[in-house]
Amino acid sequence: MYLNYSRGTINMTAMIQGWLECIRCKRKYDLTEVRYNCGCGGTLDLRRDLSTVDGRKLKRRWENRWGAKRGLYASGVWRYKELIFDCEEDYIVTRQEGNTRLYDAGKAGEYAGIKNFYLKHEGENPTGSFKDRGMTCGVTAARFYHASSVACASTGNTSASMASYAAVCGLKSVIFIPEGKIAYGKLAQALAFGGKTLQIKGNFDDAMALVQQVCSELNIYLVNSINPFRIEGQKAIGFEVLQQLDWKVPDWFVIPGGNLGNNSALSKGMRELYDLGIIAKIPRIAVIQAAGAAPLAAMWKTRAGYAPVKNPETIATAIKIGNPVSWEKSLRGVNWSHGVVETVTEQEIMDAKAMVDAAGIGAEPASCCSVAGAKKLADAGIITADETVVGILTGNILKDPDAVVGYHKNELRAMGIEGTYANAPIAIEATVEAVRKALSCSPCPQ
Ligand SMILES: Cc1ncc(COP(=O)(O)O)c(C=O)c1O
Ligand SMILES: [Zn+2]
Repeated sequence: MYLNYSRGTINMTAMIQGWLECIRCKRKYDLTEVRYNCGCGGTLDLRRDLSTVDGRKLKRRWENRWGAKRGLYASGVWRYKELIFDCEEDYIVTRQEGNTRLYDAGKAGEYAGIKNFYLKHEGENPTGSFKDRGMTCGVTAARFYHASSVACASTGNTSASMASYAAVCGLKSVIFIPEGKIAYGKLAQALAFGGKTLQIKGNFDDAMALVQQVCSELNIYLVNSINPFRIEGQKAIGFEVLQQLDWKVPDWFVIPGGNLGNNSALSKGMRELYDLGIIAKIPRIAVIQAAGAAPLAAMWKTRAGYAPVKNPETIATAIKIGNPVSWEKSLRGVNWSHGVVETVTEQEIMDAKAMVDAAGIGAEPASCCSVAGAKKLADAGIITADETVVGILTGNILKDPDAVVGYHKNELRAMGIEGTYANAPIAIEATVEAVRKALSCSPCPQ
């Protein structure tokens, strides 16, 4: 796939150094080309020459930027610009993304049986998901390449993020979503931010295949996580966690896996910090997939070849993906970090979500794979009692209210999900007597 946008030439001094490199055959491509794949079909990394970077100085520089009130370094992505996308500032489209909180997991930690458990809440990004960290770079790259339109296939959060960043800088955005399979909070954002939204007949994997073809034929810039610049931005989640922990490296990161871009970014970022001597060990990465959409886990457990899942199914619609584009990068990162891949059931996802929500933190279903997966790994003794664990909560609780209300009203039985920790609303007459009765009865009638 080769594109060359005609509106203006690419100013290569705008990018200090770097090249694209196939993770499979190691072929290199110049950054003047817009590319998402190698000729061999492998995915591409954005690489830079780390031998010219002084890790100690870089860390000091990042520390000095912490707490910037305005400007580029008020972003929790561009704070780490040197290892993200070192382009001229004029191209950069930012919403001061990142800077998300790192919570003590509280009740969710007790539930998982992990004492030192933190939850990094990426749902606190401007559009409510971690996608904003990648999207600030994806849309910046679109401007760098003089594109006038951007596109993505999406289970919802990518489209919300892309439409927002495109609106900020005046690019057109085209969204491909699977018909009827996207949480309402996300669809609402995509429409509100002005994305041209095309609901296709088929699932996310069909949409992903179509958008790649469309972008190639219609000269539209693709900002799915197959885009190497997206991955660069998402590395900042890990950088920010380390900075929040005063550079004490946790033992584990536990992260949900769908299209598998986010965990690939996390491992790439950790690897680069390690190579620069900024950290002395790479934390172990546990990728958690929903059992009904788990091609990486199947491959990991059976040590067989990669095989897509044909009809992925899960209530965690954000990760309802059967043919993840970044499976190879993801596997590479799990191996680098001596990590693991695990699955969780629908019931485990929703019960873990009830606990994250009851802890007062709240997140959307896919996010809670982190807690469900951490619990499963702790129960199995893979995560041990003295280890420090960071779970990534990828999206905001408000993204998918149907799943929340369905669980608490115990209306998800058809999907095999019981409202184990349901907190159902109680219908009563508008009288003090009825209130007294409702407050004193236990359990209350529904
Ligand atoms: C809330 C949420 N969690 C997890 C994921 C999975 O991330 P990735 O596709 O990078 O594996 C997504 C992707 O859409 C998401 O929206
Ligand atoms: Zn290749």
